[in-house]
Amino acid sequence: MLHNRQKIQELKLAYQQTLANQLVTAVLIIDESLKICYANPAAEALLIKSMYKLYGCSFELIFANTSITKKRLLQLLATGQEFTGSDIVIECSEAHRFTAEITASSVEFDRVPHVILEFKQIDQQKQISLEVFQQQQWIAARDLIKGLAHEIKNPLGGLRGAAQLLNKELSPDQQEYTAMIIEQADRLTNLVDRLLGPNQLPQIQSHNIHSVLEKVSQLVSYSSEKNIELQRDYDPSIPNIECDQEKVQQAVLNIMNNAIQAIEEKNTITLKTRIASNKTINGQQVKLAAQISIIDDGPGIPVNIQDTLFYPMVSGRSNGTGLGLSISQTLINQHHGKLSCHSRPGHTEFIILLPLNQE
Ligand SMILES: Nc1ncnc2c1ncn2[C@@H]1O[C@H](COP(=O)(O)OP(=O)(O)O)[C@@H](O)[C@H]1O
Ligand SMILES: [Mg+2]
Repeated sequence: MLHNRQKIQELKLAYQQTLANQLVTAVLIIDESLKICYANPAAEALLIKSMYKLYGCSFELIFANTSITKKRLLQLLATGQEFTGSDIVIECSEAHRFTAEITASSVEFDRVPHVILEFKQIDQQKQISLEVFQQQQWIAARDLIKGLAHEIKNPLGGLRGAAQLLNKELSPDQQEYTAMIIEQADRLTNLVDRLLGPNQLPQIQSHNIHSVLEKVSQLVSYSSEKNIELQRDYDPSIPNIECDQEKVQQAVLNIMNNAIQAIEEKNTITLKTRIASNKTINGQQVKLAAQISIIDDGPGIPVNIQDTLFYPMVSGRSNGTGLGLSISQTLINQHHGKLSCHSRPGHTEFIILLPLNQE
């Protein structure tokens, strides 16, 4: 019996020692001073950093700008109350970003409390189905608003026409009322037209993406009251793309205008272009795409509208219409491309992907 017990104890220790190295789940252990003191091989692989690189670094090296904060970790160390977080975006470098589910718990080593962070990358399939789901929601919202706009537009024409006819029958001071009806009907028609969105089919031609972007920059610099620094980070090797120049310009312009409205003169906007390979666009695999990023270092998009940002009539500004991004989305969709956004205070990035012809 005693013999058995000892054997089990030994086995337990041996398994415990090797287990952490075999797990698929990434594990990081953080000490009392919030420095990383262990990373299992799965964590090294996921973060593309070896244990030698990670050892002794602050947890913020990995978890800066996430909901894993110093305060929460200290609280965990003090109380032992574990917590979980889903959809945590970890940015190891500009090019390596992934979404993870994280469980944080505490454990004692040599009588000192440590934090164990277990995390799993939310696999790509889940990410893709989320994107497809959001796309469907967006289409449903857009169609609803379009349907409604059509229903309003037809009687509005009749109303305006009737007021015009009536206008002729009335005395000059009564005409004030008909003028008011006409004016308000025009205002509504204008709104409804914008709700209906772009309706012409794109006129596709071959264009240099950088000349399209330069046009937008020029427009922005003429029309904007703020004097904002614009930086360019272009990849000149991007081949011409097949697109409707005006539509892509409009899509970028809406995004740039939002950035300008959100930031102050001390901030900058960066226009960045790259070639992207093997991207999924609305659930479909695309081998090569031109990637245009519009980045600003302003306050970021309000958290409460981030999930519905591209829906029509979602705005964070008191005088906004909430149509700019919805229109940009429609225009990019007409090019079979994708518009997405990552935002946190200090870094807001809108990414346009336009598939490249593969000849
Ligand atoms: N670069 C940005 N920085 C901060 N907030 C932004 C940025 N871009 C968009 N937003 C937010 O998204 C909202 C929706 O934008 P949009 O669809 O163009 O509508 P509108 O500009 O009429 O409000 C804006 O009101 C703003 O709150
Ligand atoms: Mg706008």
